[in-house]
Amino acid sequence: MIGRINHIAIAVPDVAAAAVRWRDMLGAEVSAPQTLPEHGVRVVFVTSPNGKVELMEPFGEASPLAGFLARNPDGGMHHICYEVDDIAIARAALEKSGARVLGDGSVKIGAHGTPVLFLHPKEFNGTLIELEQVAATGSDQQTR
Ligand code: CO
Repeated sequence: MIGRINHIAIAVPDVAAAAVRWRDMLGAEVSAPQTLPEHGVRVVFVTSPNGKVELMEPFGEASPLAGFLARNPDGGMHHICYEVDDIAIARAALEKSGARVLGDGSVKIGAHGTPVLFLHPKEFNGTLIELEQVAATGSDQQTR
């Protein structure tokens, strides 16, 4: 079902400071910061030849990262995003197998403008998993 790893997201308390360290100490290619108010995050992308890491800091009052950073003040790995061809099919199969989709269970439009859902970490050894539909063709946005 899952395809390529699309990104690995790391929560950080200060995205500008993290960007400097990843660039200067690791020699990484780091994008300019982007604020995504509707997702409650400010991000930079660290690109590697075979994938990308997103460093994310909370933005605004109701950031979904606030709780995570309260528990992990230095930051930490927040989620892994896998690509799927058809997110509605993936969701149906996952729910049938006992995985739990977070929120109201519907597919949402994610930070990259593509359909996403998140799976409860409990079933995946404490790892929050994001599924992102990247195939541009067909598949209507099914919400319920
Ligand atoms: Co993500």
